[in-house]
Amino acid sequence: MTKVRELILHRGLSSGSKLPSSRDLSRQLAISRNTVINAYDRLISEGYLEVKGKAGIFVSEQIPETALSISTASVDAEQRAFSVTSNKIMPLRHRSPLLYQRPKERLELDFRIGRPAASSFPERLWTRLIVEKMASSGRRMTEYGNPAGLEELRVAIAAHLATARGIRAHADQVIVVAGCEEGLNLIAKVLSPPGSTVYVENPCYKGVPFVFESYGASIVPISVDDEGLCVDELVERERGIICVTPSHQFPLGVTMSLSRRLKVLQWANSMGTYVVEDDYDSDFRYDGSPLPALAGLDKSGSVIYIGTFSKSIGAGLRVGYLVVPEELIGPVREAKALLNNGNPWLEQAVIAEFLSSGGFRSHLRQIRQTYLKRRNTLLEQLRAHFNEITIMGEGGGMHLTWILPDSIYNARALQYECLHVGVGIYSIDDSPAIDFNNMHLRERAIFFGYPCLSETEIVTACKRLAAAATRVLR
Ligand SMILES: Cc1ncc(COP(=O)(O)O)c(C=O)c1O
Repeated sequence: MTKVRELILHRGLSSGSKLPSSRDLSRQLAISRNTVINAYDRLISEGYLEVKGKAGIFVSEQIPETALSISTASVDAEQRAFSVTSNKIMPLRHRSPLLYQRPKERLELDFRIGRPAASSFPERLWTRLIVEKMASSGRRMTEYGNPAGLEELRVAIAAHLATARGIRAHADQVIVVAGCEEGLNLIAKVLSPPGSTVYVENPCYKGVPFVFESYGASIVPISVDDEGLCVDELVERERGIICVTPSHQFPLGVTMSLSRRLKVLQWANSMGTYVVEDDYDSDFRYDGSPLPALAGLDKSGSVIYIGTFSKSIGAGLRVGYLVVPEELIGPVREAKALLNNGNPWLEQAVIAEFLSSGGFRSHLRQIRQTYLKRRNTLLEQLRAHFNEITIMGEGGGMHLTWILPDSIYNARALQYECLHVGVGIYSIDDSPAIDFNNMHLRERAIFFGYPCLSETEIVTACKRLAAAATRVLR
């Protein structure tokens, strides 16, 4: 299996090229034909190969050429850095935003990224609040509301952000949206005309470049290192919106240092542009005290803040919010009104009550404890099975990054091996992240979302993972 995979990956067979028949290859490699057939089957299921009817088996057209010439030479420290960036404008039109394809059957032990535990949803309380709100709804189910969102909810969000994230904003600056995704669309609609430039982190959440590109913007990736966005790469570049995840960089998990935060604010202010801060999972911080949000440091009105309840309560709610600088209140409200005239009243009323009654605070306290224990179990298990481990992003959020040891063949191979034993782990290509020509990450990074598995399940999953790893050694 490994020999056949190496033949494809290391001998630089280009995508679309035909493979020898199983008989010929078994002779060439002096291995049994059954081994070759099994290997071909596996590589077909992993997407490396595809069958074209009677014409034979071919290297998949989907594999980028760059992935077909992986060097086995040991990588030096510089190559290992995750800041390899082409810094070119990256047209995404040839890349599908739907690359993230999960197996059809539900995985038994799935380290899904970015999902809260299903059991954490406060079902009973929610049901009670819905009934209460309906009982007092009056005409609000038949009337249009404020497109910017329910007043009570905007007030509650502003109060929450002041204490939790150090953001001083009044309720008018808050625009309730259907999750970060709608927030990004509104920002793009208002601020990113065709031909404008948008700087994104490399790697980043897939939604960001795809949304902005869909409005005609040119996407320019900027490297990320262990202090977050490499702001120096912006110097002498043209004006453009910058999209960042300072609290817990997506997907690597690094926290942007204070000096970088100040630098990016300074750059945006001097260029007269905006920084979009996606603060998607900052409700979870386990080690050290959290830095305030970038929007909390901003004195010049340069930050557009995006928050979401997808991670802290549930993605099914589809509720998030923007906090915009004063001069954008009008244009963003107008764009929201034109788009859909505001979010449904009932869900907003329930969330407002949840926040203002203190329910949200105690919910967060509870799930933070649960996630902390799950994160600790995962770290202990990885250490127990793999000794020295390189981990990033474990200090907060809902996922962490494991940089594979050299002994393991590569991230995708391990991911697929785990798939066969019911364990879901994620390489960057199969995650909600996108990277721009960063081969090291593609090859070596594995992402684990840990909220959805109990401690016992994490122990079982790691046992299976360790056994799977022995099957993908170099
Ligand atoms: C970094 C990041 N931003 C935004 C989102 C989307 O959030 P929402 O559900 O609020 O659209 C995600 C979802 O996984 C994410 O990981």
